[in-house]
Amino acid sequence: MIQLPWGGWCVSDADLAQALLRSPEFNAGRSGFFADLLPTRTAQVEVGHAVRNFLRKRLPQYRAALAPAVAELPVATRWPAAGTGLVYQCLADLLLHPGTPAAARRWMTQAVHGGVVFRAPHAWQRARAELLRARLVAAVTEQARQRRQHGVGEARDVLDAVLGACPDEVTDRTVAEVHLTMFRSIVAPVGATLAWSVLLACLHHLDDSPWPWPADQIVREALRHRPMVWMLGRTLTRSAELGGTAFDDGDLLSVSPYLLHHDKQHWTDPAVFRPGRWAEPDECGPYVPFGAGPFACPGASVARTLIAEALIALADDARLTVTGGDTRAIRIEGNVPRPFVLHRATGQQATTTSEGGEQP
Ligand code: HEM
Repeated sequence: MIQLPWGGWCVSDADLAQALLRSPEFNAGRSGFFADLLPTRTAQVEVGHAVRNFLRKRLPQYRAALAPAVAELPVATRWPAAGTGLVYQCLADLLLHPGTPAAARRWMTQAVHGGVVFRAPHAWQRARAELLRARLVAAVTEQARQRRQHGVGEARDVLDAVLGACPDEVTDRTVAEVHLTMFRSIVAPVGATLAWSVLLACLHHLDDSPWPWPADQIVREALRHRPMVWMLGRTLTRSAELGGTAFDDGDLLSVSPYLLHHDKQHWTDPAVFRPGRWAEPDECGPYVPFGAGPFACPGASVARTLIAEALIALADDARLTVTGGDTRAIRIEGNVPRPFVLHRATGQQATTTSEGGEQP
């Protein structure tokens, strides 16, 4: 157990960490993910599953949007912002369907780069983000009111999925807040993990040949090496004991996915980015990029597919290289890569550069 400077404890032992995440003793009642927005644990689970099922069903639509979106990218793009933008562009119609009034969709698009999805570094930017957030929530509240009036049939977007799963007593405004929570929790980690996957694969494969690893192995390894979620916390609702230490009601116990994923006792060469380890038996130690136990992320498998599909689209018939890449993370509500530039050379450009030509 490591005492944290800002209060609480970090459980660094792998077995105790798993016990903290999985035991009903530490995971009773509602999870902290939706804060107080939803009235019961059942409602939380139903919303999470409804959104996950909707996204899973619409994966073909997302996949179809990727190729034209990637084709529109300039040869050099600034990441991680470009990755978040790409993921958002291909998910936008699934978050709020095209029949939604343009204003709501416009506020959502502005929210992506306006500090609502990732916390902005400067106070003035955060003030502007608050304004954007309020406008988006107001527009989606009005949409929720109208859709409830007309009745929600089969889900056309994430808002319909949320409306279908929320109990009737949840207000329109709260529905809009839940929609915002889901919007951020999908776009931010998927965008950031795509950026880590691109950066780490490019830095670790310097040959001219295409990446030698299947996309899913790159994504799994990026989520191990640089997990987007930095800490998983559990605030105790009654006194409890873990690993022989007694804790009080209200104490905060946390698990660091990063520490567990770099534990030398359980991983071979944990400091090395090595996607191939996912094809080797007995090479995997404790792995919790999506949490574990009753509060684990219901979108884990869909998220991995969203990232892998984007990676495949980016690498399709293209040669990818990065400049300015640095594998140290910055933390903005999660581990995000520092800015880097991705150069994507296609067709003739790719052949020329792989033969030693200059990047355009
Ligand atoms: C790379 C992408 C993603 C990462 C890294 C991620 C990670 C996480 C983590 C660490 C948690 C907390 C688990 C815990 O406390 O034990 C969580 C919760 C959650 N995630 Fe994700 N997530 C991702 C994408 C998604 C997607 C696409 C969805 C869409 C359905 C989603 C929906 C949720 C929900 C609803 C919860 C709350 C679960 C509950 O408390 O019942 N996530 N996620």
